[in-house]
Amino acid sequence: MATALVVGATRGIGLGFVRALLQRDWNVYASYRQPDSLGALDELAAGHPGQLHRVMLDLTDEAGVAAAVAKMEAQLLEPLELAVCCVGVLHQGEQGPEKSLSQLSGDWFGHSMSVNALGPLLLLKHLHPLLVHHTSSQFAVISARVGSIAENELGGWYSYRASKAALNMLMKTASIEMRRRFPHLQLLCLHPGTTATELSAPFSKRVAPEKLFSVERTVRQLLQVLEENRGGPSGRFLSWDGSELPW
Ligand SMILES: NC(=O)c1ccc[n+]([C@@H]2O[C@H](COP(=O)([O-])OP(=O)(O)OC[C@H]3O[C@@H](n4cnc5c(N)ncnc54)[C@H](OP(=O)(O)O)[C@@H]3O)[C@@H](O)[C@H]2O)c1
Repeated sequence: MATALVVGATRGIGLGFVRALLQRDWNVYASYRQPDSLGALDELAAGHPGQLHRVMLDLTDEAGVAAAVAKMEAQLLEPLELAVCCVGVLHQGEQGPEKSLSQLSGDWFGHSMSVNALGPLLLLKHLHPLLVHHTSSQFAVISARVGSIAENELGGWYSYRASKAALNMLMKTASIEMRRRFPHLQLLCLHPGTTATELSAPFSKRVAPEKLFSVERTVRQLLQVLEENRGGPSGRFLSWDGSELPW
């Protein structure tokens, strides 16, 4: 049984990954931040005894990330084959993505950078020793097409766009270091397509129904992209249909 870690697994795309991987008979570690958001994961764990392990972890707390990884390492019976980081923030309470520069807040910009860009890199920093013992392992982050600098024609969403562009740069940079040291570890940035989750809900009315994917569809597509690219080049930015996106 292969083993995966899904980070940001309490809802949305991350929870979808957990569900799909359990159905495919993976051994799954799934992260949550607060015990009161464990409902769906507890239910899945009850239906898959011994197959789903819950890990408490907040990407903005490096010491907590290190402790969670150490705890996992002590429990793991075999190296990890896959880690998918599905963590992201676009809005929170009154704070939405900026429509104009006048809405920019330094605090929100910093928070977006911390959760969306630095967090996944800190995760890689502490987690990669658990991935490098496998013959072909993958560390994937869910990025976003709006993080592409080359494709930015609409503007707006300063904090989210910048944090996803930074995430892409950080993963590309890490892939160069990792390629030299651990050639079997592949790093990928994935664009999921607009997916019906809490993150996209305030904006999904503007999306044509055929372009708004269910979580199940998104996860199926992304797992196919991961499978088709396993063992291939590292440090790429791929869309849900497997096409390469411009940085
Ligand atoms: N949905 C879309 O249309 C879309 C499009 C493009 C890209 N994406 C990207 O896809 C990824 C998943 O998005 P989603 O739509 O599934 O979002 P979501 O439903 O809002 O879920 C976000 C997840 O991230 C977790 N999280 C937030 N802050 C965290 C932190 N500091 N540490 C650890 N976990 C944290 C949340 O946990 P809690 O339950 O504890 O808050 C939740 O599990 C994100 O990176 C997003 O930017 C989504």
